[in-house]
Order: sequence, then structure tokens, then C-alpha cells
Amino acid sequence: MSFAPSSDAAAQALHERYRQVRAHTLALAAPLSAEDQCIQSMPDASPTKWHLAHTTWFFETVLLQRHAPGYVLRDERLHYLFNSYYEALGPRHPRPLRGLITRPGLDEVMAFRQHVDAAVEQLLQHADDALLAQITPIIELGLNHEQQHQELLLTDILHAFSCNPLLPAYLVKRQPVTSAPLRWLAQPGGVVDIGMPADSGQFCFDNETPRHQVLLQPYAIANRLVTCGEFAAFIADGGYQRADLWLSDGWATVRAQDWRHPAYWLAPDDPRRPFQQRDDLPADRWWVFGLDGVQALQADAPVAQLSFYEAAAYAAWADARLPTEFEWEAACNAAGITQWDDQVWQWTRSSYDPYPRFEPLEGIAAEYNGKFMVSQVVLRGGSVATPAGHTRPTYRNFFPPAARWQFSGVRLARDL
Ligand code: AVJ
Ligand code: FE
Repeated sequence: MSFAPSSDAAAQALHERYRQVRAHTLALAAPLSAEDQCIQSMPDASPTKWHLAHTTWFFETVLLQRHAPGYVLRDERLHYLFNSYYEALGPRHPRPLRGLITRPGLDEVMAFRQHVDAAVEQLLQHADDALLAQITPIIELGLNHEQQHQELLLTDILHAFSCNPLLPAYLVKRQPVTSAPLRWLAQPGGVVDIGMPADSGQFCFDNETPRHQVLLQPYAIANRLVTCGEFAAFIADGGYQRADLWLSDGWATVRAQDWRHPAYWLAPDDPRRPFQQRDDLPADRWWVFGLDGVQALQADAPVAQLSFYEAAAYAAWADARLPTEFEWEAACNAAGITQWDDQVWQWTRSSYDPYPRFEPLEGIAAEYNGKFMVSQVVLRGGSVATPAGHTRPTYRNFFPPAARWQFSGVRLARDL
């Protein structure tokens, strides 16, 4: 009988988690063909193949190259192709042109993943206590990074499929959803603690820290998300024609892009509807494109793929407003909720700014979040596309206000 040092068990648990997260990415890509995995439908979205490679590049760059003794780079050229935005790591392939990379092919990208996985396994098998303590937070960051790309993989392929007039389905139809009656949860406000405590022992991104105090006025927040049925009423009431409901930038976008409804809704005169004939539904019914293809609008389903501008206009129409990210977090904590029953991220009224005394991570990861803290808006919660266990009440997602290819919707708030 031999005594395994406790770090062996820790290394094994970490390796098991590494394997699970990496396998989940492959499972998400599995229903997609090689053609599906190469396409880039807009500069903001990336090909599935790029996500598979970039998440692998991240482990190679932040973990193996710096901490694995004798690690041999798979191929120098991959570094140029799959660096996303790290200026400190040198020049890189332009983001809008990611869809032009037919080679390396999928098989080579899979071989890259295996090469890195084998090296991570080696590293974890041979790491002593000191090295394990050093690399554990780096591996955790790499896994949480990969989970962020798992959600992006889905939102990006959904956007690509939305550009195909046949509107293909990524998966089979989900069960119908029901929603509770809307209730307003009164919150006292006052001084609340926001952000992840330094001693939580939980992983979080640097943008969730440091924990600090915020003063809130009394407010009320909705117990549930705004539904497609409610959003259809906003459209029917001329919501997209009434400048008074919109922020100036939002209204300019509505006019410039000719927005008349959420991005993935099919209007009655949409030429793609003949491909989706359903004789049992009235001709004026909205249809909605999603991961399960085109489905008749479900009135109780949360409205998704909204921009911040649309979310804010809806709130104005509903005689309400969007919660600040601090109101959202305080209400979530007050309700003792670890994850609101959320199927979509919720736009807040907060710009994505550093918390007081924010310090980015050290080294390459300094560029991970902090440099994006301007001109973007915070979303809270999580979505159907977020991997289980990835999000938490302090989690800060962020996108520019016009972005509408994410699973993003609305939870309303009001002053009290
Ligand atoms: C938090 C989703 C806005 O899309 O760039 C991926 C996630 N960060 N790689 C993004 C992310 C680094 C990030 N979002
Ligand atoms: Fe990334």
C-alpha cells in the first residue's frame, strides 16, 4: 500500500475537470459538418474550427510554453492564426478574415487539440506541489475561457445558420416553456456588497473584483424575464416606430439597419417562410429562429437575441427600466439564488467599467478583460448556451449595445 501525496489527488481532480470541459467543446461541434465549422458569417462571429483551435492555443500559450519543461510547440504558424487579441504576443491574423482559413483543416486542428491535451496530462502527472500551486489558477482560467468559447461557438453558428435561407436547425426541438405571472420583488436598497470576496475560494474573472460597497435606492425587480408574447405586444404597439421610446444611438441604429423586430424573428412577409410551411398556424403569426430551427413563436418563452437598445426601448414602453448590474446582483443575493432560472443573459443599465481599485491579472492575461472596459454594456445571469456551472451571481458578461446575436434578453426593474 502506498500513500499518495494529497497533491496527486488534486492534480487528478483537475485533470478530470480538464478532460470534461475539453470533451464538452468537441460534443458541441459534433453535430456540425466540416463546411459548417469553417464559416464566418460576420466579423464579430468566429468559425467553430477557430474556437476549437483558439481555446487550445490559449492553453499552449499561457500554460505549456511558460510552465511545461521542454514543451515543444505544435507549429509556430498556429500562433499567428489563433491569437485572438493579445497585443503583447505580437501580430495576428485579422479577426474579420477568420473564415478564410480552410487550412489547417479540421483534422489538423483536432491533432493540435490532442497534442496540447497530452502535454497538459504530462504536466499534471509530473508537477510537484510548488508547480501545481502555480499552474492550477492558470488551468482554471483556461477552462473558464474554453467555457466562454463554448457559448460563443453556439451563438456564432446560430448566426451563420440565420444567414442561410433554409434556416437549418442545430438540434431537435426543445420542450415548450411556461412562464410565471409577472411579480415585482421589492428591494430595500441601502449599502450592498458587490463582487467576489477575495477569500471565496471560488474561481472568478478579474472583472468581478474587488468586492466593494455600492449605495442603492429602494427598487423593485421582476421575478422573471420578459417573454416573446410581451415583446410581440411592444411591436404591435408600434415600438419600433416610436422614437420617444429609444435612446438616440438606438434610434439611429433602428433607422440605419431598418430594425422592425428582434433579429431572429420572421415577419409574416419574410420570403424564407415558404420554406417553413405550417398550415395549422395563422398567417400573421410570428415565427422565431433558434438553435432548434424555425418554430412558431412561444408566447411564454423569454425574448432573446435582443440588443441593449431594444431591451431599453422595451423597458421604456413597459413603464419600467433596466436594472443596474448592482441592483441585479443585490436582488439575486437577497433571494438566495445561485442562478436565476435564466435562459437568456439580461442587459443591465450599467456600462462595463472597472470596479474601484480594479487590478487586471498579471502577465499575458492582463489583456483578458480590463482593456475592453469602454463602450460596452454589462449583462448578468446566464443562458441556455452557457455551460452548467460556468456562471454565478457576480459574473459580468459584456457586449456592445448594438450586439444582438447572443442569448440576451430583459429583466425589468422600477424605482420604489
Ligand atoms: C465575455 C463573451 C465578451 O467574447 O471576447 C473569450 C469572452 N474572452 N475569450 C468575448 C472571451 C476571451 C468575451 N465575452
Ligand atoms: Fe478567447
